[in-house]
Amino acid sequence: MAISNSLDVIMTSSKAKILDLPKIVDPRGNLTFIDEGIHIPFKIERSYWIYDVPGGQSRGGHAFKMQHEFIVALSGSFDVSVDDGKERQTFSLNRSYYGLYLPSGLWREMTNFSTNSLALVLSSTQYSETDYIRNYKEFQESRLVND
Ligand code: TYD
Repeated sequence: MAISNSLDVIMTSSKAKILDLPKIVDPRGNLTFIDEGIHIPFKIERSYWIYDVPGGQSRGGHAFKMQHEFIVALSGSFDVSVDDGKERQTFSLNRSYYGLYLPSGLWREMTNFSTNSLALVLSSTQYSETDYIRNYKEFQESRLVND
């Protein structure tokens, strides 16, 4: 089936990727949904959201060793810059019918939050501080070991 094939490709990819979500257009208001294993390639163990971000603030300057994430701008807009140790790519999220899939092992930072923006983050693991790499030099060294 086309969907599972494309998820297999995403699962073996170490690159960040925008994934489109279903959008049910309705004159009463639109509706979007996420089924784990169908629209995102991991089992959701945790959800959290980032909101009330003061102008000019940034979040998430770190990498994860294990966890995968999927980030959606449920409201407003923000940018996610993703760094694999060699290249940095910036994704602008500003619609609730797509999101950014982030495999583990990438440095990421969220910036340019608009007023009243709301970032939903779905994670493949429960919260664990030991899964974080918060030092950029340490992150670069871990990439050298893994490459
Ligand atoms: P953190 O992921 O470090 O946010 P950022 O990278 O944007 O600064 O989370 C900030 C704090 O929130 C962290 O010290 C612990 C707590 N926290 C939890 O307890 N559970 C969670 O699921 C998350 C994401 C954070």
